[in-house]
Amino acid sequence: MIEAEPLLASLSADLAAVTTPTEVAAVRARYLGAEGSITRLGKRDFSTMSKDERRAFGSGFNELKTRADTVLKEAAARAEASKQAAGPAFDLTLPGADRRQGAIHPILSTQIEVEEIFRSMGFEVFAGDEAVSEYENFDALNIPGDHPARDMQDTFWLENGMVLRTHTSSMQNRAMRALGVPLRAIFPGRCYRNEALDLTHENTFYQLEGLMVGEDVSVAHLIAVMRDLLAAVFRKEIQVRMRPGFFPFVEPGFELDFRTTLNGVERWVELMPCGMVHPAVLRNAGVDPDRYSGFAFGLGLTRLAMLKYGAPDVRLFNSGDLRFNEQFRATL
Ligand code: DAH
Repeated sequence: MIEAEPLLASLSADLAAVTTPTEVAAVRARYLGAEGSITRLGKRDFSTMSKDERRAFGSGFNELKTRADTVLKEAAARAEASKQAAGPAFDLTLPGADRRQGAIHPILSTQIEVEEIFRSMGFEVFAGDEAVSEYENFDALNIPGDHPARDMQDTFWLENGMVLRTHTSSMQNRAMRALGVPLRAIFPGRCYRNEALDLTHENTFYQLEGLMVGEDVSVAHLIAVMRDLLAAVFRKEIQVRMRPGFFPFVEPGFELDFRTTLNGVERWVELMPCGMVHPAVLRNAGVDPDRYSGFAFGLGLTRLAMLKYGAPDVRLFNSGDLRFNEQFRATL
């Protein structure tokens, strides 16, 4: 006959020792699986049994299987319920996922800062294109095809005859046409030259051009705007001086220097070229030079960022090396 009670007692003891649905399933396999101890009971030689014995065995075996199955189902339901109640596995002591926080690139943060300063002086920000016509980049600026000034800007020419702008001055003509005069605008952006790379030269760099045109705009306005700009950037009064400088699109043209301490030594540092807009440049944009005058300047944003952050090598800015960039986690 079948010894049902000891098997059921052993099954109950095994179930009392487990808690998770997986563990209950393992117990089920040990008793009712293909090789389980209850299943194996049914695999015996029935030829030696009488008909009555077989019938008695069969009903005892089926009852045992049904009772074992019921107990296992109940245990499985309990285990599942307590798993649900415990909620998802969550370990407060595990280290969190490392989400790296992005930051504004030092050149862009310099650009945004300078934009804000000019906005406060009534300048608007005029976005331009990086691929411009030869006319906008050169001829409109009084730099004809045979002018030696073209040699100073080793230019990337596109197959369609346009150029990657070599300077943001290329936006002057377009801005005057689009905005009309009087006008106060800045054009920040990326410029390209086929430069031999070194500590201070990159083939891709940022400038911020400024242009103010009106009926009485003079050099005094230019100096005042530059001094306000520098005072805002460096957060103190800054001395400036102008030296003559030549650019075909300004007359007179200047190099503007400012007084600062570099490497512990106080000295004049060249900041930006500028000047009074050449009459031909005004005329090329449909502006009457007898009535209007203006000043323009070409601020090297990359250079300004180098000065501001004391960066020793311009190439670091475009290197994509996060060890460099992460030193300037500017928050705006
Ligand atoms: N576009 C000139 C350059 O990149 C810089 C420049 C000089 C801009 C004089 C100006 C200016 O607006 O007045 O070499």
